[in-house]
Amino acid sequence: MPMDNPRTTHVKDYYAKRDTVRDYDKKRFTGRGGRYIDYTEQKIISDLIDALPTTIRSAKRLEKRPLVLDLASGSGRFAILLAKKGCKVVAFDYSQEMLNLIGEKCRREGLNVGEDIILVQGDANRFPFKPETFDAAVSMRFMWHYKKYPIFIDNVMKVLKKNGYFVFDLFNLYSLRALYTLPANLSVYVNLATRKKFYEFAEKRSYKIEAEKAHFFFPYLFYRFCPDFLAGIMIWTEEKIQKSALYIFSSVIYFKLRK
Ligand SMILES: C[S@@+](CC[C@H](N)C(=O)[O-])C[C@H]1O[C@@H](n2cnc3c(N)ncnc32)[C@H](O)[C@@H]1O
Repeated sequence: MPMDNPRTTHVKDYYAKRDTVRDYDKKRFTGRGGRYIDYTEQKIISDLIDALPTTIRSAKRLEKRPLVLDLASGSGRFAILLAKKGCKVVAFDYSQEMLNLIGEKCRREGLNVGEDIILVQGDANRFPFKPETFDAAVSMRFMWHYKKYPIFIDNVMKVLKKNGYFVFDLFNLYSLRALYTLPANLSVYVNLATRKKFYEFAEKRSYKIEAEKAHFFFPYLFYRFCPDFLAGIMIWTEEKIQKSALYIFSSVIYFKLRK
């Protein structure tokens, strides 16, 4: 079901711009804080993904490699991670510039476009995939750009095979993120969700929440703009918080939803 409105169209246009694409990784994942964010996200996703062939070499010996959809693949951080672990990945994004960037990264990493990663340009409002196509799907930093994010979840669940699963993230309303997102809502729209509402939605649809993880008590912005010497202290504090009851106020919640 199409769900564009002026604010969400703005999200697509924002990421289609050449400047946004060129600066995407540099702006978010450099410096000590940025590298911590990238490392942590990749680790959480790896932990939530079912057992994989582990390397392309071992995967190619299998009759069939797991087929994974990376929805709104952006600069390809997760598409590349999963392809290196032996999945065949469909990187799907509205921005052709982003897909071109993944193509460049594949060449640098020795991955084969079309074989290890298939690049597909399109709009997640109008999925071009047949039902029951994928073994798994991942979507990071995407759905929190949309208030009606459950529509995307429904679309993804349809294209998953029986027993397939979907790993994604949402922003937590009950976190420090609310301090600056609610009043400002920055350059692109950002939605803050609650666990309770998400659980109600999953129950209504009979989706099984198989795993859940929270992280980033200090929202991304804190890490991105923090000098390296302070980032070390923040990371140390973050890791302590994640082991305490305060973790429930983390700004990002990662879910694994089983079909
Ligand atoms: C914040 S980036 C996330 C990229 C990547 N998943 C990551 O975590 O680094 C959001 C991505 O969503 C894509 N996008 C936004 N709206 C979309 C839509 N309706 N259909 C497909 N892709 C969309 C943008 O082009 C952009 O690459």
